[in-house]
Amino acid sequence: MVTNDPRSGDGSELGLVNDAAVVVERNRVVWTGRSTLAPAADTSHDVGGRAVIPGFVDSHSHLVFAGDRSQEFAARMTGAPYSAGGINTTVAATRAATDEQLAANLARLVAEMRRQGTTTVEIKSGYGLTVADEARGLAIARQATSETTFLGAHVVPPEYADDPGGYVDLVTGPMLDACAGYAKWVDVFCERGAFDADQSRAILRAGQARGLRPRLHANQLGHGPGVQLACEVGALAVDHCTYLSDEDVAALADSGTIATLLPGVEFSTRSPYPDGRGLLDAGIRLALASDCNPGSCFTSSMPFCIALAVREMGMSPAEALWAATAGGGAALGRDDVGHLAPGAAADLVVLDAPSYIHLAYRPGVPLVASTLVGGAG
Ligand code: NIG
Ligand code: FE
Repeated sequence: MVTNDPRSGDGSELGLVNDAAVVVERNRVVWTGRSTLAPAADTSHDVGGRAVIPGFVDSHSHLVFAGDRSQEFAARMTGAPYSAGGINTTVAATRAATDEQLAANLARLVAEMRRQGTTTVEIKSGYGLTVADEARGLAIARQATSETTFLGAHVVPPEYADDPGGYVDLVTGPMLDACAGYAKWVDVFCERGAFDADQSRAILRAGQARGLRPRLHANQLGHGPGVQLACEVGALAVDHCTYLSDEDVAALADSGTIATLLPGVEFSTRSPYPDGRGLLDAGIRLALASDCNPGSCFTSSMPFCIALAVREMGMSPAEALWAATAGGGAALGRDDVGHLAPGAAADLVVLDAPSYIHLAYRPGVPLVASTLVGGAG
């Protein structure tokens, strides 16, 4: 069993316990350790030597959308580059969809995640880009998770193409007013083709003034100011981090901001992977997340992201598992998820495998045997 509690088991970061038991009371873990030492319980369940891990914490997804962009993916795989502009295709489809259609698509994707072991998910808006469409997107996301993020600043929508400043005013004013009550986080796509450093700073600061906590899409398509801006505003995490300068790495190390790596995006856009190994060696904490969205990466699978992180980013299976569980929890500022210590949420996954290493060793194989969320299956 992986506890992610270094005080448990073998004393490693993963707190590995062999012949383990976990005791759950209502929705919480109350005890972990060797099964021979386990306190008496009303009911018990033997998982037959299978590995148990904390549920995955997917700290970055965009699940409120309609439409399909598989043709764009096919074009990329035969040479077309990924660009921020594709987002507007999904914006048009999302605006045209009913609330019921958006909620049904989101529920289907959350269920798909659950079947693959994800027990906590963050969900962003960002395909509405009007006051009403952003607010309804967040209201729908709120039904599925408390980890909701206002991403009105995903791209400048077509109707503001000639007035990006006007769009920033809309985002920081009426849109934020309508959305703040449904969101915990504020995010910006800080990238060439989307929002620059000054616009991003203004939007993050406006969100912070409304009680939202900042996070950022940064350095995905090229070098840029996003990572350093995230560190400047005290973001808990900055996401993508594909293109990093030495100054970016130093800023992450100094600030303690978590780098959330999204290797499904590099896979699905045929881009170079970020240097996970180098970041870990520089003392930076990493999270792994899916970035599940219809454009740059339409996977909902954290096991797939773990396999990519191990194979393509120089991370060990242990480092990747930690980043996909405890790392995601830290990136969301949550001390109750991503680990299995007494007091934590009873969110756990039983793998059809003897060890968590199989998540990377057996890529593409559905290894999740069962999942508990808050102690319930
Ligand atoms: O995280 N980078 C910006 N947003 C998404 C992609 C959205 C899209 O292509 O529809 C991302 O990769
Ligand atoms: Fe994203």
